[in-house]
Amino acid sequence: MSAVELRDLAVDIAREAGELARRRRDEGVSIAASKSSLADIVTEADREVEALIRARLSAERPDDGFLGEESGGGEGASGITWVVDPIDGTVNYASGIPLYAVSIAAVEGSRDPDRWTALAGVVQSPVVGETFTAARGEGAQVNGARLRIAEPGPAGALLATGFGYDPSTHAGDLAAIGRVMPIARDLRRGGSAATDLAYVAAGRLDGYFERGLAPWDYAAGALLVQEAGGVFLRPEGPEVARRLNLAGGAGVVEELRRRVLEVA
Ligand code: IPD
Ligand code: CA
Repeated sequence: MSAVELRDLAVDIAREAGELARRRRDEGVSIAASKSSLADIVTEADREVEALIRARLSAERPDDGFLGEESGGGEGASGITWVVDPIDGTVNYASGIPLYAVSIAAVEGSRDPDRWTALAGVVQSPVVGETFTAARGEGAQVNGARLRIAEPGPAGALLATGFGYDPSTHAGDLAAIGRVMPIARDLRRGGSAATDLAYVAAGRLDGYFERGLAPWDYAAGALLVQEAGGVFLRPEGPEVARRLNLAGGAGVVEELRRRVLEVA
């Protein structure tokens, strides 16, 4: 299958998965468990949506591998792995805030995010009704319209960020925000990293920075940004366990890198 065919398959599955998530949300959400901390929750819907995505992929691409937030990994023989976040923005979802997304990416080669090559990516925003798509070398679109990243205007960069679920990391993240605000027009904390990256690709945001994402948070969104002409970067820094993730135009990414990591 070509990158375009992988993308089209991902679109079909992400739309069905998004509809299931939306339906379950309307019926009422039940928290299934807490994970890394009390704030880090999983709902029954996260599990059900991931199971649907996994079942459809294994029916249509039985030789591919799988890496999902809720059900873990499975090795494949084809060299392609599907990296899936069934509901990115679970806290929004559980709280009735409509900013959440299904994120599906097909990557080739290594299962290590630093070494894999992303071939296709889809971020599906079920409530808003937007499907962000990218295929390697073929550009990025939202509902069929071409995406291009933006450059900051004279008022500064419209930025987004996020926080991990571990409260002990908040002070450091807030200090980094203090260093970034001089270049910002304003700062958003939307609550879905995949959506933040899709919005950078769409030129709605000029840049994004957050420490400590998991591969399923950014696998699809990173390709969207790159195919829209932007940069997605995970520079090595002192906090090895919480790598910094940056997205935007080359200039904004470099400025964010220096300010967040406090390097010259
Ligand atoms: C989270 C969201 C959030 C980000 C966290 C992620 P989840 O994913 O993307 O915006 O700040 O780092 O873990 O838990 O909702 O799938
Ligand atoms: Ca996530």
